[in-house]
Amino acid sequence: MRFTSIAIDGPSGAGKSTMARRAAAELGFLYVDTGAIYRSVSLYAYRVGVAKEDAPQIVALLPEINIGMEYQNDGVQHMILNGEDVTDAIRENEVSLYTSVVSAIPEVRTFLLELQRNLAATHNVIMDGRDIGTVVLPNATVKIYLTAAPEARANRRWLELREKGSDITEAKVLEDVLQRDYNDTHREIAPLRQAEDAVLVDTTELDLEESYQLLLKTIREGV
Ligand code: DC
Repeated sequence: MRFTSIAIDGPSGAGKSTMARRAAAELGFLYVDTGAIYRSVSLYAYRVGVAKEDAPQIVALLPEINIGMEYQNDGVQHMILNGEDVTDAIRENEVSLYTSVVSAIPEVRTFLLELQRNLAATHNVIMDGRDIGTVVLPNATVKIYLTAAPEARANRRWLELREKGSDITEAKVLEDVLQRDYNDTHREIAPLRQAEDAVLVDTTELDLEESYQLLLKTIREGV
């Protein structure tokens, strides 16, 4: 039996997760947030106290890591790291930067490849990440590259953080966005890039609802 897979790649802050989750619920597909999987592996190494640049030490920890995902009634993909629900812990700002370095380690990517492919082999999925259309699911039914200008992404993220009570400046958020973009697009293995057969969806000038409708239309035209 062949399952349908929708691959959505793009830089951080383009609204991938929010919109992909909603589209998955609307289409009855399983939503797979692969960034959360990378974050969970990174969180483990971060907590052990290994420097993010110390690739050999991080690779040595991989056999100790057991990643699970649970889908509960709240529609959120809960990440289970060695039995602990780390869904909130993986969203900390330090973990974001740590993950953008750890996710460049080839062994870490290989470690997670099979997990991601198995999910797509057994479910209809909307999977979002950086290399889904290029590496993980090269034969995905629909590939979308979802992006927006860095300033637009930073502004959205800043408003979100401010809402949560953070006093971070917009300039600092933009700096982090640019740093992560740089890390994600310049790494040697599986860098972020648009697959040749991916449809470009640029949401710079669109609000969330308009972006979502454009994404859904693009998916529907492709399946
Ligand atoms: O989408 P996100 O911000 O949760 O991703 C966290 C980090 O993981 C980000 O720096 C890019 C990396 N990542 C990756 O390398 N490959 C993926 N498929 C998903 C995320």
